[in-house]
Amino acid sequence: MKFKLFVAVAGIATAAMLGNAVAQQSTNQAVNARISLMKLYAFNLGTLGAMAKGDMAYDADAASAAASNLAKLTSLNASAMWPMGTDNASDPGSRALPAIWQNFPDVGAKAAALSEAAAAMQSAAGQDLDALRAAMGPLGGACAACHKNYRAPAN
Ligand code: HEC
Repeated sequence: MKFKLFVAVAGIATAAMLGNAVAQQSTNQAVNARISLMKLYAFNLGTLGAMAKGDMAYDADAASAAASNLAKLTSLNASAMWPMGTDNASDPGSRALPAIWQNFPDVGAKAAALSEAAAAMQSAAGQDLDALRAAMGPLGGACAACHKNYRAPAN
């Protein structure tokens, strides 16, 4: 009896662990592509943010490279990465809120705002630290504005 209970509990624990593993990774290539793109945004923004905060020494070449990468990444046409039926209610591997597909023009405007802020950072990043810092607010703000409305909180 005790053994059976142990087996049952262990089974539930294993199922919960597998459940988590499944929840973390979508099997949809479009979802994985957009998440990968977001990670590339974050990596390059991270370099610029670390310099802005003084956690990393300002280096004009490295700042320019990160800003140029970000500007290129935000100019990709990513529309094929957002097919219908891939919101977080349909795909446990996604944090994309269904509101995205009800407000496509606004999502597009927020993506365009990010592209503009990234272009401004591309002009500023190689100048000096003050210019980089001034461009950081609008750039980080453009990421946050979209996440606030269209991304579910992390579990
Ligand atoms: C137009 C809207 C929009 C903009 C702009 C945007 N994001 Fe996102 N981001 C999303 C959505 C929606 C998700 C959730 C995608 C999913 O899970 O399917 C997301 C997810 C992420 C994730 C989580 C990836 C993971 O590991 O699951 C990171 C990191 C991220 N974004 C970084 C950024 C950064 C940095 C910027 C700005 C340079 C940015 N995003 C701009 C909409 C946006």
